[in-house]
Amino acid sequence: MAATAVSGPLEVEDVQGVVLRGYGSLRAARYLLLRVGDAAAARAWLRGLSGRVTTAQRSPDGTAVNVALTAPGLTALGLPDAALAGFALEFTEGIASPHRSRILGDVGESAPQRWAWGGPGSEPVHVLLLLFATDEAGLAQLDEERRREAEASGLHVVASLDTVDLGDHEHFGFRDGISQPVMVGSGQTESALNTIQPGEFLLGYVNEHGQLTERPLLQPDDDPDRLLPRDESHRPDLGRNGTYLVMRQLRQDVRGFWRWADQASRAPDGSADPEAMTRLAAKMVGRWPGGAPLVLAPERDDQALARANDFAYQGPDPEGLRCSIGAHVRRAHPRDSLDPKPGTQQSVAVGKRHRLIRRGREYGAAPPPGTLLDSSDDGVDRGLHFICLCGNLARQFEFVQATWVVSPKFDGLYEDDDPLLGARGPGAGAFRVQARPVRRRHRDLPRFVIVRGGAYFFLPGLRALRYLART
Ligand code: HEM
Repeated sequence: MAATAVSGPLEVEDVQGVVLRGYGSLRAARYLLLRVGDAAAARAWLRGLSGRVTTAQRSPDGTAVNVALTAPGLTALGLPDAALAGFALEFTEGIASPHRSRILGDVGESAPQRWAWGGPGSEPVHVLLLLFATDEAGLAQLDEERRREAEASGLHVVASLDTVDLGDHEHFGFRDGISQPVMVGSGQTESALNTIQPGEFLLGYVNEHGQLTERPLLQPDDDPDRLLPRDESHRPDLGRNGTYLVMRQLRQDVRGFWRWADQASRAPDGSADPEAMTRLAAKMVGRWPGGAPLVLAPERDDQALARANDFAYQGPDPEGLRCSIGAHVRRAHPRDSLDPKPGTQQSVAVGKRHRLIRRGREYGAAPPPGTLLDSSDDGVDRGLHFICLCGNLARQFEFVQATWVVSPKFDGLYEDDDPLLGARGPGAGAFRVQARPVRRRHRDLPRFVIVRGGAYFFLPGLRALRYLART
């Protein structure tokens, strides 16, 4: 490949902050989806906004703002088709294209035709504005200011997606946001297994194949003012320090999940067994509600292991007797259990090509305490605004979702999909709990997660943002 890789530390002053940080201290967040009205006015708005965008250079103080654009959004800003063609095909086609919906499991109730936003029948989404603040009052002020500026420049708010602070847990009740990859050169530290070449998450850097991930490179004439960095062949690099951002609104049927776990874990005489219910739910996730991984804490939750992340599967648990083979975390990141040689560095190396940085937040009020097993649906839309970042949509997000999460064939399983996320028809799922002397096969697993919206975005570097905003 002709282009040079950036070596050494990351160009953090040109990278948007959300790539390196989840902004854990900024507990309040809202996502604004915007549509461009007038291209010139929107570019002027983006120019002003670029000065306010939080970079990865330092931790934010009080608030943070990041911005991403869809392919139609880049066109609406005036980016020519020739430049757009340099982006990944998955991005330009969009998450809701029919072929993609099939492989991602966005069918039936989750089909884009039924989405609240991002689907073929809904208003186009051009811009995603990610707003974060220490508390709700700070967020309200930030939202008011940013929204006023956007609307004054002809942008229209397609949707305003609120989030809720469940204190490090997701709606099913499990600690989330524990296992994240970190990038070589970022200054952040993790185990070797979770330390990944930056090109897996940032365009313009070397990836786990030892190459530069495909990215949009322009012609020198496209950038006479030299706003963009150059690659080795002197081509303006629109991709460098940017990444792709996947957003999916995932509605969770929390009561359905726990009702199913309750029924499936009852004693032979039909009596409820709360401990067995929690154990079964933990088997589905692969971690206990407090966060301890089942591979390290097979019998019960353990606060001391709440954030433990330095473990593999093949050595301690090749057959899934501790952490079931089909558990959500084992499917979404099989660590060292991938072919061709499970338990070796070769297996880990394959896994490193399918990693995601997750940045999602929960939305919707949690069910009141003590009502988890109620048979009625309270009608509240609650779930996860799933957000992940990756340098290659096909090899990372789409591969994980299609091949490991949705597919019934996984690591020797052939009829189970992800017990949390599977896109199975009503009651058509199966979940196998490996055990001795006999394994347990649960049938009639309903669907617990429905997709309500989604889009692929490009989260540009700061210089690319100023380039897109030029007059
Ligand atoms: C409502 C939807 C979802 C729920 C409730 C959920 C829940 C969880 C929980 C509780 C964990 C364990 C905490 C942690 O390791 O950080 C986790 C980990 C993870 N999830 Fe999800 N998740 C959801 C959607 C997704 C989706 C759509 C993907 C990707 C396609 C995904 C990929 C992952 C990955 C990669 C991990 C880390 C696994 C590891 O490194 O051990 N999740 N999830």
